[in-house]
Amino acid sequence: MAKKYGADLNIVWLGSLFHDIARLEDAEPHDEIGSKKTYNLLITKGFDQSLAEKIKNIVLKHRCRNYLPKTLEEKIVASADAIAHFLPPFYLWVGKYVNSNFSKTMKYNIKKIERDYQSKIFFNNEKKMVREQYNILKKWFNFKI
Ligand SMILES: [Fe+2]
Repeated sequence: MAKKYGADLNIVWLGSLFHDIARLEDAEPHDEIGSKKTYNLLITKGFDQSLAEKIKNIVLKHRCRNYLPKTLEEKIVASADAIAHFLPPFYLWVGKYVNSNFSKTMKYNIKKIERDYQSKIFFNNEKKMVREQYNILKKWFNFKI
């Protein structure tokens, strides 16, 4: 996506690498905690302040919750993060964080897939690319046993 849309490859690469850094410690909100951690790490390692701020903002905005992506690089990382959620194995991993029964987990998944599809993918071609998985996952999560 970075190449396709003419984004800064280094910024997108570093933002992708760091976007979930706070997940390593299960720290929440991982976007806010991770953005501070990323900034401090990059400054400590000698990266310049302008680059560190761009990467920090990618980490801060990748969830599209309290902070919305504005730059092309921020939108690419948020979109790519959401697109990854359309691969079914992702929902095996979600189970680690959802401590409830099956029905509640499916409701959580429906909400997540809806938010990811509707609000986190900023590019029409990529949205079209995952449309079929989105529809299948919606059916799957709505399945009643
Ligand atoms: Fe994340």
